[in-house]
Amino acid sequence: MTDSIGQMTRTTTADAKSIADAVCLLAEGSIVAIPTETVYGLAADAAQGEAVAKVYAAKGRPDFNPLIVHVVDVAMARTLARFDARAECLAKAFWPGGLTLVLPRLENVAISPLVTAGLDTIAIRVPAHPIMQAVLRGLGRGLAAPSANASGRISPTQAEHVRQSLEGRIPLILDAGPCAQGLESSIVGLADNTPRLLRQGAIARETIEDALGQPLLVASESDAIVAPGMLLRHYAPRLPMRLDAVHAHEGEYHIGFGDIAGDTSLSPSSDLVEAAARLFELLHVAEVSGRAGIAVAPIPMHGLGAAINDRLGRAARG
Ligand code: TXA
Ligand code: MG
Repeated sequence: MTDSIGQMTRTTTADAKSIADAVCLLAEGSIVAIPTETVYGLAADAAQGEAVAKVYAAKGRPDFNPLIVHVVDVAMARTLARFDARAECLAKAFWPGGLTLVLPRLENVAISPLVTAGLDTIAIRVPAHPIMQAVLRGLGRGLAAPSANASGRISPTQAEHVRQSLEGRIPLILDAGPCAQGLESSIVGLADNTPRLLRQGAIARETIEDALGQPLLVASESDAIVAPGMLLRHYAPRLPMRLDAVHAHEGEYHIGFGDIAGDTSLSPSSDLVEAAARLFELLHVAEVSGRAGIAVAPIPMHGLGAAINDRLGRAARG
């Protein structure tokens, strides 16, 4: 398995044939750029960790921020997250559409922990765009999809923007013309008692507050726009962590990589896509191992290694 850079990118009008191609690619663990009513998304089957890792690799993202899971309807959303009255109310008012809800994740759902970056919350949205809807129905599962742009570039509202940014890095772009809204979804956090506006977006704050019947907390008006990840808690194991560990100390659970076998390995073949896909899963395994600490083998800094090291660094700092 490689991170697929240097491949042919096909841009094609979204029709029954190309939608079927997209569904096949997604089912076999590949990634596809798909239009939504907000911006174009770079989609992967949310159940397949290696597919999700390819999204990060293609975007060249320096970190593993959690991704939004797109589902076909509220019924599918309820299989992934706990809906309280507030969540039901906002789903009824704005789905399908440009609102994302961050909710408590249900346990034992078929969502790769890389999608939620190890958190116990999950971001979900039901998109309105008929092409994204058709792909979701064809696949029958949720799609993790960040905006389909290389890291640091603006979000793509046309297939051509996607091509300029990700040409050679993804196999297929479905073209359905410009996105109607052109602004990313608004993100509302309902993981605790205080409803929060985590990102300003396609639906105005006042409109959401009217539907909810209560105000949204915005940590800082400007920060919420500049740094949507600001209010994010990061997953960290409840054990001391030591990085760049060639050998484990007594009592440590050793996570290996490449030649370093460890108790279990992120990737015996030094494949960074596989390592990214297994990262949060193995941290959880180590956390419940009953050992006194976690040691992690050195991970190279190239490709997805940068994001893996970034996340390990945060986890080690607690
Ligand atoms: O309109 C959109 O939302 C587009 C289209 C493709 O649907 N998607 C999009 O995804 O903008 P992305 O990955 O660029 O932004 C996702 C945002 C990030 O700011 C991330 O931090 C936040 O959602 N997020 C995801 N899961 C979260 C969670 N569990 N808690 C808090 N924030 C979360
Ligand atoms: Mg984005």
